[in-house]
Amino acid sequence: MTELRPLSSSGLLVSPLCLGGNVFGWTADKTQSFAVLDAYFAAGGNFLDTADSYMHHFPEQGNEPGQSETIIGEWLATRRNRDDVVVATKVGDHPEHMGLAAATIKAAAEESLRRLRTDHIDLYYTHFDRDESIPVDEIITALDDLVKAGKVRAIAASNISPERLSASLAFSDREGLSRYVALQPPYNLVSRDTYEGARREIVRREGLACVPYFALASGFLTGKYRPGRTTENVRDLPGLAGGYADTERGVKVLDALEQVATARGVEMATVALAWLARQPTVTAPIASARTVEQLPALLAAQDLRLSDAELQALTTASS
Ligand SMILES: NC(=O)c1ccc[n+]([C@@H]2O[C@H](COP(=O)([O-])OP(=O)(O)OC[C@H]3O[C@@H](n4cnc5c(N)ncnc54)[C@H](OP(=O)(O)O)[C@@H]3O)[C@@H](O)[C@H]2O)c1
Repeated sequence: MTELRPLSSSGLLVSPLCLGGNVFGWTADKTQSFAVLDAYFAAGGNFLDTADSYMHHFPEQGNEPGQSETIIGEWLATRRNRDDVVVATKVGDHPEHMGLAAATIKAAAEESLRRLRTDHIDLYYTHFDRDESIPVDEIITALDDLVKAGKVRAIAASNISPERLSASLAFSDREGLSRYVALQPPYNLVSRDTYEGARREIVRREGLACVPYFALASGFLTGKYRPGRTTENVRDLPGLAGGYADTERGVKVLDALEQVATARGVEMATVALAWLARQPTVTAPIASARTVEQLPALLAAQDLRLSDAELQALTTASS
């Protein structure tokens, strides 16, 4: 069983693979979702990532926001394991609670608590910092109020500019309020400049944890999307997995992943996650599994120690 690790200075102990929750109620129905959650928990996983908005991006598929939190809440209640799970959720992208104004944060948190059937959220992320007319002071103060009320254990940021991340941390320090303990950026072998550079430097300097999302580039890094081949998959879209297959970098990365995976006798997804887990400042990559069958390849990354030569070959292919 893989050991838990500290999430920076938060006091939370998390497993090295965070289970992504956007599948729950989207590409995985409740039965499938429970099976994935059970298998992850049985393997020692304790770190769940969701958002109040999951998954409202594809209304034509009948998805409604809140379904992921609702499924997780029901799972926690029936399995009676709330105290053994670190629940991370996000605010700011729910159609009825859009943005990060103080009143929105306050109302959205109550809704998340209700759906998750819990009295506290372990890690509460600001999902998208789209409206920079809202001062970071207002956002941090609202989040700090939730921490003081015992409704949130620790706060974090997801999609945010380096400038606003720095300003948020400075405000917290100046005012003695809760400060972000983690950053959740998109980051993987085919998307590196979304994190490496200014954001990573702030995370390193300020002692935050990096919890990267799209760790498999929406499934591209499993190797199932190849140039010229189209699939029926809902993630086979330009902004998601489908956008990488016809790029030179995408092809090079898949070749490098395949070489390492074949030599080690593991799946390409495992190698992709193992590479990410070894990047400076990364505490726990987030990846989702739609089915129980997809999960072992993700969990195996926790035990795969890549050599320096293998890491370098992958880094070079992705450059
Ligand atoms: N903060 C943010 O703004 C943000 C944005 C997006 C996501 N997230 C979080 O990050 C998590 C991960 O992102 P993601 O789920 O979109 O992408 P991902 O983890 O990069 O890709 C996961 C998808 O790849 C496919 N897959 C996984 N294992 C596989 C295997 N062994 N073999 C073949 N295919 C496999 C599955 O999709 P299919 O079976 O459908 O192909 C799975 O849902 C989300 O669940 C969410 O919690 C956060």
